[in-house]
Amino acid sequence: MSVLGSAIQAGFDVEQVRAEFPVLRQKVHGKPLVYLDNAATSQKPLAVIDAIRRFYEVDCANIHRGVHELSQRSTAAYEQTRVKAKLFLNARTRNELIFVRGTTEGINLVASSWGRKCVKAGDEIVIGAMEHHSNIVPWQLLCEEKGARLRVIPMNDRGELLMEEYAKLLGPRTRMVAVGHVSNALGTISPVREIIEMAHKAGALTLIDGAQAAPHMKLDVQALDADFYAFSGHKVFGPTGIGILYGKSKLLNAMPPYQGGGDMIRTVTFEKTTYNDLPYKFEAGTPNIAGGIGLGAALDYVNRIGLDKIAAYEHELLLYGTEALSAIPGLRILGTAREKAAVLSFVMEGIHPHDIGTVLDRMGIAVRTGHHCAQPVMDWFGVPATTRASLAFYNTAAEIDALAAGIRKVKEMFS
Ligand code: ALA
Repeated sequence: MSVLGSAIQAGFDVEQVRAEFPVLRQKVHGKPLVYLDNAATSQKPLAVIDAIRRFYEVDCANIHRGVHELSQRSTAAYEQTRVKAKLFLNARTRNELIFVRGTTEGINLVASSWGRKCVKAGDEIVIGAMEHHSNIVPWQLLCEEKGARLRVIPMNDRGELLMEEYAKLLGPRTRMVAVGHVSNALGTISPVREIIEMAHKAGALTLIDGAQAAPHMKLDVQALDADFYAFSGHKVFGPTGIGILYGKSKLLNAMPPYQGGGDMIRTVTFEKTTYNDLPYKFEAGTPNIAGGIGLGAALDYVNRIGLDKIAAYEHELLLYGTEALSAIPGLRILGTAREKAAVLSFVMEGIHPHDIGTVLDRMGIAVRTGHHCAQPVMDWFGVPATTRASLAFYNTAAEIDALAAGIRKVKEMFS
């Protein structure tokens, strides 16, 4: 089926969808913008922009603190997002959703709070070979502090985790298995359900970095049985500086606070502080209120389109892009996993990715070049960097054609 056919079958009109994203209407260097850097951050629909604007224009007040009307309104709008996030992830209760700055902070919260309490010298933390730095460094810091050991599930040359090697890594010392659901550098969708089940059998907890999964697929933390799951607002068409950490309430209840300050306390004296209930125990200080409200609008928006439809359309777009790029002589796609989402990472013989990215930019095409905060992945493939086109449901087959034509021009320039 054609990509357009798949959008129609999915029941959405991609041009109508694009009209809701004002940023996509512009020209860059005199050419229509082709935005293919969605894994870095996605664009925002009017619904999100309007929700943030409305907060600052009409409802602006601090939350959880005032009896006055504006504070009541802003508190209600902010807390509604928590309920929307509960539905988005299919969590059991709203208390299991903690507002954080983004996935990175969510992982740091768990590594810091759970890790400090529960990890001891000689314990082991298992991560995957293609983690983003934000799912490596917090665990490294913890391991250094505690004398614990970081172990890595290797991958094959398609960019798939080796499950038989994973099984060998699990043992009585394993405390936590922390893996990405979808690789930002390669697009691999890892079998997290199986990973979690195996970790639980070994007596370990699990944290899933869902930053790159949340914009592309329906999530269900109960079906996954994930202990912790984190995602970022700005990658699901919401604002920057806001995200969600899900944690099973029995685990969150047993964890010490992450940061101290207002809202996370029940009583404070100079002698002793007692802490607030979930979820507030982990939410010290005035949060990103506008961001939280904008995230709620983003989740509504994504639900309105439908994640199943999004996944089906993007899958067709990915197949189309894979074929178009593979036909370019000298271009090699890195990341050819059988289960893959929305990412086309590639290298070209004799041309540095930064040159490719710079020339494409002059054509109005936005891609990311570099190590994508996943240096071990680059090391594994023996390259310093890749060029990465990452897709969203507002991208079109015509934009993929523009990318392929642009790459062919780059090739001509450098040959
Ligand atoms: N993690 C983001 C990316 O992959 C920033 O580009």
